[in-house]
Amino acid sequence: MDKQSKRIVLVTGATGGLGTAMCKELYTDGFHVIANYRNKQKADEWQAKINAEGFVIDMYEGDVTDYDSVGAMIAKIEAEVGPIDTLVNNAGITRDIRFSKMSKEDWDAVIATNLTSVFNCTRHVINGMMERKYGRIINISSVNGQRGQFGQANYSAAKAGMHGFTKTLAMEVAKYGVTVNTISPGYIGTDMVMAVAEKVREQIVSQIPMGRLGGTEEVAHLVSFLASEKTNFITGANYSINGGQHVY
Ligand code: CAA
Repeated sequence: MDKQSKRIVLVTGATGGLGTAMCKELYTDGFHVIANYRNKQKADEWQAKINAEGFVIDMYEGDVTDYDSVGAMIAKIEAEVGPIDTLVNNAGITRDIRFSKMSKEDWDAVIATNLTSVFNCTRHVINGMMERKYGRIINISSVNGQRGQFGQANYSAAKAGMHGFTKTLAMEVAKYGVTVNTISPGYIGTDMVMAVAEKVREQIVSQIPMGRLGGTEEVAHLVSFLASEKTNFITGANYSINGGQHVY
């Protein structure tokens, strides 16, 4: 398939652990991958590294917390590359601290980056997808949005918010051939998880029936599956991928 006829996928927060694995998997599976970033220096280093590994991925700057910045980024992508078929809302941060000590800034930063970003990015692509009668929105939530986590009132609230968003939007756009789904990873071997104090992390891993952290490529595989054209009838769903840590 030539570059022009490939499905175009935009991954936000692409230079993180999960984002990198997703970009690689999607590229390998035949997508035209566009990586969103915020930090130019980190992005340049990232692109050079994965180019050297054989992955050809376009990069576009945009602050997902800023509605107008996202709008400008998406307009540029659509003018230079083409319409976005699949959006992976992956950008996310943590500001872990127990709620009795949490600042307004800790709350606002996490809600803006992890939840308002989902509105900002999706709002700018959804009408085009509906007009073209094809689209995939994939929201990367978390096991901690399903069950809560000590120290993550902000993060859990944002990640749980994604589920309500997914279910409602899925209903609204189903008849236009657009699907909207959520993936809820458990503890995956990313920098974000490795930043948790070792003692705390070990205690968390001891609660995972599989006895290990997940691999970024295991989540990426699920993203690529949902992004494929074979999943037309899957919408409004949440896929848990947590090694059995939370089953219900
Ligand atoms: N459950 C119950 N009590 C807990 C607890 C827990 N999980 N963790 C800490 N506590 C208790 C301690 O026993 C201690 O109690 P005492 O005061 O009675 O002795 C008290 O809380 C310590 O409170 P502090 O506010 O002083 O806590 P701290 O500074 O030591 O650590 C924290 C707070 C940074 C939030 C730490 O608990 C932590 O890192 N928790 C893990 C958070 C986490 O899992 N983050 C995931 C990041 S990765 C990610 O988010 C990706 C994803 O989607 C999975």
